[in-house]
Amino acid sequence: MSTILLRGAPVASLDEYTALGGGAGLAKARELGPDGVIAVLRDSGLRGRGGAGFPTAIKWSGIRSAGRPAFVACNAAEGEPGTFKDRWLMRNNPYQLVEGLVIAAETVQAPQVFVGIKELFLQEMAALERAIDEMRSAGMIGDLMITLVPGPDDYLFGEEKGLLEVIEGRDPLPRMHPPYIQGLFETTIDEPSPVLVNNVETLSNVPHALANGAEWFRGFGTDDTPGTGVFTIGGDVEREIVVEMPMGTPFSTLLDAAGGVKEGRGLLMVVNGVSNRPLTAAEAVTPLDHGSMRALGTGLGSGGFTVYDETACVAGVAEAMTAFLMNGSCGQCLPCKMGATEIRARFDELREGIDGPGAVEDLGSWVLHVTDQNRCGLGSGTSAFTAGILSHFAEYLAVHVAGGSCGTHREYAAPVIKDWDPAAGRFTYRAVALK
Ligand SMILES: Cc1cc2nc3c(=O)[nH]c(=O)nc-3n(C[C@H](O)[C@H](O)[C@H](O)COP(=O)(O)O)c2cc1C
Ligand code: SF4
Repeated sequence: MSTILLRGAPVASLDEYTALGGGAGLAKARELGPDGVIAVLRDSGLRGRGGAGFPTAIKWSGIRSAGRPAFVACNAAEGEPGTFKDRWLMRNNPYQLVEGLVIAAETVQAPQVFVGIKELFLQEMAALERAIDEMRSAGMIGDLMITLVPGPDDYLFGEEKGLLEVIEGRDPLPRMHPPYIQGLFETTIDEPSPVLVNNVETLSNVPHALANGAEWFRGFGTDDTPGTGVFTIGGDVEREIVVEMPMGTPFSTLLDAAGGVKEGRGLLMVVNGVSNRPLTAAEAVTPLDHGSMRALGTGLGSGGFTVYDETACVAGVAEAMTAFLMNGSCGQCLPCKMGATEIRARFDELREGIDGPGAVEDLGSWVLHVTDQNRCGLGSGTSAFTAGILSHFAEYLAVHVAGGSCGTHREYAAPVIKDWDPAAGRFTYRAVALK
């Protein structure tokens, strides 16, 4: 079977979970001990599923080797436009996430785990609470404290340094230092407590890799990115879906699973997160793994894809995505906030056909500076997205640069997914008001 995480889903009780083999990963982890766990993760090649694809074993061994009290934080604040996979996983099988959290805590010897989760995710919180209660009653969790921390509906809540701020009771304003250097509840400047921060999907993979071994895990996916990905695909497709596929599956196979482009139209572009260069129609065959996407000059991100057909306006889509980034930017770093604001304004002008050559020149200049002196990755994401539009979609901007309009009349908004409508087989989207 070509799935790992959604096998047998939805999993409605601990009994169902254990019947599927749940709990075997934790038992194996206790048998192997922390170094053995990290060795399995290293050999399995598991990479983080939150966006950057950082090797999980390196992160875990770094925290463990710090030799100081540590904490674990699960990033369940999913906020990337076009992505719904963490919520899908928590709804369909919260047990594997809790099992992954217990393994993580025992490996880095953390007495407490925090789950930073958006306060809007009521269904997911209820599922996690149920799983924690059942697993605690069954004696699987021991004394480990697992605390759900509901937080605001801000994009930066999902950024790991913003996440830690929320866990400590503040707004999600990314701090200077990364979690592994200055984590939670630091006692003195010399003795900060490191925090292991991992995404929901990353942690959900951990029990399966341990229960079945590294070789089994590498039987899915590619050498570069072993395992499966839980991909979200929406927008101008026949069916909007969340589906698990082996890493390295061509994007076109995912598109086929969504029934193809709506009404048989041609594909224009695929937005793979607001921090990456969108894919062109010619790139639809690209394998979905980190290495293949990076080789193209883009990224896999969190595996969320929003499809736009040939009736969409590139300038309009770019304006909507950069408006989301402008809104999301907290303003602690001037180049990020100012750059995102200016970039969004230039795309707005372009869409209207106002001062096209000047707008393109300004965009090219801001791409270089929006990244300066920033605390987090939002500014470099804004740069990557904008540079990608300029370099790969220039032919679609040409009519706007010349002062005209491409003649499409759609309203665009960043596709922030609110929920799943099973009757319609589509997502519902949330309007994000401009600040
Ligand atoms: C602006 C911004 C938003 C982010 N949003 C999320 C998010 O919603 N969920 C997530 O897991 N990671 C998000 N990340 C990545 C996290 O900072 C972090 O890298 C990740 O949680 C690490 O987990 P992993 O190693 O398991 O991928 C975001 C990063 C940035 C710069
Ligand atoms: S880079 Fe942007 S979003 Fe990140 S902390 Fe600075 S201003 Fe805020």
